[in-house]
Amino acid sequence: MAISIPDTQTAHKRFVLTPWSAQAAIDPPAIVRAEGVAMYDADGKRYIDASSGLIAVNLGHGHPHVVAAMKDQIDRVCYVPPSLFNDRRAELAEALVRLAPWPEGGRAYFTTGGTTANEDAVKLARTVTGRPKVLSAYRSFHGSSMGATALTGENRRWPSEAAAMSGVVHFFAPYPYRSPFLTTDPADECRRALAHLRAVMLAEDPERIAALLIEPVVGSNGVIVYPEGYLAGIRALCDEFGILLIFDEVMTGFGRVGAVFGGARYGVVPDLMTFAKGVTSAYIPLGGVIVREKLASYFDDRAMWMGHTYSGHPLAMATGIAALEAYVAGGLFTRGLTIEARLRSHLLGLQAKHEILGDVRGAGAFFALEFVSDREARTPLVAWQGKTQGVMPAFFASLRRRGVYAFGRYNIAHIAPPLIATDDDLAEISEAIDGAIGDLAAAWHAAN
Ligand SMILES: Cc1ncc(COP(=O)(O)O)c(C=O)c1O
Repeated sequence: MAISIPDTQTAHKRFVLTPWSAQAAIDPPAIVRAEGVAMYDADGKRYIDASSGLIAVNLGHGHPHVVAAMKDQIDRVCYVPPSLFNDRRAELAEALVRLAPWPEGGRAYFTTGGTTANEDAVKLARTVTGRPKVLSAYRSFHGSSMGATALTGENRRWPSEAAAMSGVVHFFAPYPYRSPFLTTDPADECRRALAHLRAVMLAEDPERIAALLIEPVVGSNGVIVYPEGYLAGIRALCDEFGILLIFDEVMTGFGRVGAVFGGARYGVVPDLMTFAKGVTSAYIPLGGVIVREKLASYFDDRAMWMGHTYSGHPLAMATGIAALEAYVAGGLFTRGLTIEARLRSHLLGLQAKHEILGDVRGAGAFFALEFVSDREARTPLVAWQGKTQGVMPAFFASLRRRGVYAFGRYNIAHIAPPLIATDDDLAEISEAIDGAIGDLAAAWHAAN
């Protein structure tokens, strides 16, 4: 095909609409190749991928075992409709169910990503319970389609709100650094948050609530790790009222928080788990729902009214199987615990050095840096859900100049390297962050 504009940067701006962005304001590098923790732009400049893409490339780029399995599957068969059976689909479903916590087992249902997984999990919960409502947290992201956007708690819901799915009620969940419950004590935060949630359930009539959907660790709303006992308290409330508990494991799954799933890390068992991203290390789109057997069997003699052309796509299935093998072979489901210890120590060192770094928090290979203009008052450097990103682009641009890619929102940066990152990679990332925080502080002082 003829290339009308040879410069990728210019061609991209001319022809591609980039999601979630004002098009004129962005100027990212054009990545043309990647391997391991590193991505390379057209000029050969190397960037360590310190956010694993969008917290998804858990195995690092181009894992040879996964790439080989993809090539092999391309030669065998690329498409089989969901209405026909397929060997790879059965194999991946079994492997996923074996990772689930239910003694009675379960079954897997496949979608095309996290958005469709959450939307279909809600459909499934409504169908099985016959109840109409769903609860989710304000500080949450569950996807961007008209249905999943309604489940999303934050401002990415607002533009499509009027047409979004009805029946979703939001509640406040704990956020220890900025407590919605006006306390600095995590135990109090947990108690008050659960009392608030119980009140919301009662106000909505618990018998009309099909499910509660929650990220076990909040992802793109700032890596909020819930206080001890909160998820278990939610489980107890759901049991009390016959509400199904859905864990959105789209970001937290497949080793990201130091265990195979977020639920496993915190010892809490949901009824359904949605997944995407890390299941294929993002090499190809795939999502789905793992459903405990007692819910799955509801559909044995009733049709399941949901599905997609690409449900259980063989190429995605082969990629998922090989990715799971790579996680197991590399001990990567728990490698996040080692990364957590190393990163926490580096990042706390930076917090001690830089006034502007208000909070460092995280679990596994999943951290947030929250920037403030006043550390005592915890004033956000840029207003959360405000109209601009303020000076924050200076931080990310400085990181890129220093050979590190990461992404963030408003006053928060997400640091979530691939699970294969070595101690040297983590040191290199931390050194770049150190310099970029210096540049961020300088940009802030110049503007204020
Ligand atoms: C927790 C969570 N759920 C759902 C989604 C939506 O997934 P997808 O972009 O694959 O549709 C995301 C995306 O970032 C996510 O972080």
